[in-house]
Amino acid sequence: MTSKFIPVEEFDYVVFGGTGDLAERKLLPALYRRAADFQFTGDSRIIGASRAKMTSEEYRQFAAKALDAHVGDEERDQTSVADFLERLHYVSVDATQDAGWSELKALLGDEDRVRAFYLAVSPRLFGPIASRLHGEGLVNEHSRLVIEKPIGHDLASAIELNRAVGEHFREDQVYRIDHYLGKETVQNLMALRFANALFEPLWNSAHVDHVQITVAESLGVEGRGNYYDHSGAIRDMVQNHLLQLLCLVAMEPPASIDADAVRDEKLKVLRCLEPIGPANVGDVTVRGQYVAGASGTQAVPGYLDEIDNDQSDTETYVAIKAEISNWRWAGVPFYLRTGKRLPERVSEIVIQFRPAPHNIFGEEERFEANRLVVRLQPDEGVKQWIMIKDPGPGGMRLRHVPLDMSFAKAFNVRSPDAYERLLLDVIRGNATLFMRRDEVESAWTWVDPIIAAWRETGKKVQRYTAGSWGPTASIALIERDGRTWYEDENA
Ligand code: BG6
Repeated sequence: MTSKFIPVEEFDYVVFGGTGDLAERKLLPALYRRAADFQFTGDSRIIGASRAKMTSEEYRQFAAKALDAHVGDEERDQTSVADFLERLHYVSVDATQDAGWSELKALLGDEDRVRAFYLAVSPRLFGPIASRLHGEGLVNEHSRLVIEKPIGHDLASAIELNRAVGEHFREDQVYRIDHYLGKETVQNLMALRFANALFEPLWNSAHVDHVQITVAESLGVEGRGNYYDHSGAIRDMVQNHLLQLLCLVAMEPPASIDADAVRDEKLKVLRCLEPIGPANVGDVTVRGQYVAGASGTQAVPGYLDEIDNDQSDTETYVAIKAEISNWRWAGVPFYLRTGKRLPERVSEIVIQFRPAPHNIFGEEERFEANRLVVRLQPDEGVKQWIMIKDPGPGGMRLRHVPLDMSFAKAFNVRSPDAYERLLLDVIRGNATLFMRRDEVESAWTWVDPIIAAWRETGKKVQRYTAGSWGPTASIALIERDGRTWYEDENA
C-alpha cells in the first residue's frame, strides 16, 4: 500500500518558541517528515523565532539534534535531513520588545506566499505577538496564526484571548489546534460515520444505549506541575480533547467536510450539553488525584510529591456522565473519563448498542449487545463486537467476538503524528480539524459551572493509587446505571 502525498504551495512557517519543547519534540519532526515525503515546494522556509541568541546555523544544529532524538533511524536519510535543514532559518525576537522584529521583517520580505505564524509560546503572549505582527505590517491576505491550548483558563479569559487575537487576524486566519483532531483514528471516526450507510441509521437513542470516551494515560505530570496544578484534568483534557471527541461522535452529518459545515454541527452539540451545577455535580462527576503506586513494575510517587505541594486539591482524574439534550441523543449518557497514572495509555470510544429485542435461542443462551470500539491509540483500529454461532459441532451456542481491524496490520503504513496533518492543513487553508472561536467558548460555557459547582459544594478529590483505574467512585458512577466501563476481553 503506498500513500499519496500532495505537495502544498510555497510557504514561510514562522515558529515563535522555535527553540522550545513543542518545537523540538513535535513541530520540527513533523515538518521534517512532510518535507521528506516531498510535500514542500520551491524554497519553502521554516523560521525559528525566540528570545535565545542563535545563528541560523546553530538553529540547524538544534534541529538536527531534535530529529536525531525524535525521528526514528529508518525515517532519517542524509539527503532528506540535509534538504530539510537548509530550509531552516532563525531570528532572535523578543515578543514584547522591539528587538529582532526588523530582522524578521527583512527575512520575510514581500514574498507573495503563505505565511504561517505558529505561536508555541505562553498564551499570555498570543495577544502581544498578534498585535506586533500586525504593527510590523507582517499580516497580509496569506497570513495565518496558529495557536494551541490552553485557550483561556475559563470562559472570560478565553473570550479575552480570542478578542485580542481577533483584533489583528480574521477568524478564518486563526487556526486553534486541538491535536486530538489530527489523530488518524479521529479522522477515521468521520469516515466511519459518514462514508458508510451502515451505522448512521443506528446512531441515535433508539439503538444506542450509551457511549464511553476514555483517554487514559500511564504517565504522571512529568515536570509540568506548575501549569498542571492550575489546570487539572478538566481544563487540560475535558474542555478540549474529550469534548471534541464527544462532538464528533454526536454531531449531525454535516452537509460537507468544509470547515464551517463541520464546526457548525459540533457547536450545536456543545450547546445541547445538559448543564451540570451544584444540584447534580455530586452524582454525575468524580474527581480523583493519584497517590504513590506503580507504573508497570516501577514504583512511582504520588501527585503531591511530584508537584511539591501537599495542599493541592487539583484533580488528575475526572469522570463525567454527560447528557446531550437533543432529539437524537436524549436519554443516552456519554460517560467520559480521563486521568494520569492509570494502568495503561489507551484512548478509545465505545458505542454500546442496545440488546437485540428478543432471544430466539432460549434462556441459556445469553447474548451481549453489539458494541463498536474505535481505538485512537495505541494500536489504532476499529472493533465491531457481534454475536456469532460458536464454530464447530455441538449444537447452537453463541459467542461474542470482535470483527477486528488493526490499521497498522491492515495497511502496513506508519500512522502519522497529529501535527503532520495539522501543520500542513494550515498551509492548505483547511480549517476543518481546528476549533472555531465559538466552539472553544461554548466548551468553557459547559465546563465553568462544573468547576464552580465543585468549589461551591466542597467536592474534594478522591485518592486513587497510581497504576489503578481511578477512584472507586468512578466505577460506581457507571455501575449505578447498570453499566460497566469497557475492558477489552481480547486484549
Ligand atoms: C495534552 C495535555 O493536551 O495532551 C497533556 O496537556 C496530555 O496533559 C496530552 O498528556 C495527551 O496527548 P496524547 O497525544 O499523548 O494522548
